[in-house]
Amino acid sequence: MTPATVARFMASLFPPRPLQTCRLLDAGAGMGALSCAFLNRWMTGGLGFASVEVTAYEVDDHLRDHLARRLARYSRATSHIVAGDYIQLATAHGLRNQGYTHVILNPPYKKISGQSAHRLALRCVGIETVNLYSAFVALAVAEAAPGGQIVAITPRSFCNGPYYRPFRDFILARAAIRHMHLFASRNQPFKGDQVLQETIIIRLERGGQQGPVTVSTSTDDSFADFTTHEHPFERIVPPNTPERLIHVPTTTAPSTIERLSAVGYSLADLGIRVSTGPVVDFRMKAHLRPMPEAGAVPLVYPSHLRMAGTVWPV
Ligand SMILES: C[S@@+](CC[C@H](N)C(=O)[O-])C[C@H]1O[C@@H](n2cnc3c(N)ncnc32)[C@H](O)[C@@H]1O
Repeated sequence: MTPATVARFMASLFPPRPLQTCRLLDAGAGMGALSCAFLNRWMTGGLGFASVEVTAYEVDDHLRDHLARRLARYSRATSHIVAGDYIQLATAHGLRNQGYTHVILNPPYKKISGQSAHRLALRCVGIETVNLYSAFVALAVAEAAPGGQIVAITPRSFCNGPYYRPFRDFILARAAIRHMHLFASRNQPFKGDQVLQETIIIRLERGGQQGPVTVSTSTDDSFADFTTHEHPFERIVPPNTPERLIHVPTTTAPSTIERLSAVGYSLADLGIRVSTGPVVDFRMKAHLRPMPEAGAVPLVYPSHLRMAGTVWPV
């Protein structure tokens, strides 16, 4: 469950919008930490809508009871609590704009196996993804209205790697990235749950024109050392990179990768081929040499890598 300070921070990321009615989606709502933080901000006049309609999905019967009690305290808001599986329900009749003007999410995190019912349901609506959290974010983006603001807290893993490439394509084709907040400590935001992941909060705008991206950081959920910078989008998703990796720069100084890419040569240009995996010392004992000799090459271990260089032998 999202700690109160993080829920408040997430609610604070929504820009005020001149809307008569806000339609808020909270999928995987748990006991309502996020919807309540949003409604608290609205009640104190921070968002400017005349009314709010909350749609909250939750599969767990026990949590849903708490959720209903908590949302009932907001007499000025209308709440619609949906008992059931968000993925199955949202994919049942194809994807469409459900008119959500705002989405706030801390989705479940769990791998989706290749042949599971979730994977097949998602595939039928054109979402190819490997984890429940990315499935929830993709569905929420698809269900948001044009201009809809989506704030989600998730692991950072979607930013990298080939498995999340279709998810990145899906999101970047439908939304602009407006803000990313990175927790520098791997376990702080969810210390009670012992979640050992890098955690990120992202704000997306459905159908938005991409512009500069705000990147903020803090060590933990106290936000005591909060820093924020604005970066051109080209620093976040560099153009002409087919993998569409999402970088999260934490300073305005260029990163090692950016400095290296300025060199302008690929490994192939330098006549170097890289292959990961096949050299495993204990399987290749016959080929190991205690001392250099003609035709031998250095065997480099992680302990030989220092910052952006190699020190060999150690
Ligand atoms: C990480 S918890 C976050 C709860 C809440 N959003 C919060 O921030 O405190 C994810 C929630 O999603 C619910 N959930 C898991 N799978 C779901 C599904 N397929 N459909 C709807 N809810 C689901 C879980 O029961 C849990 O309450």
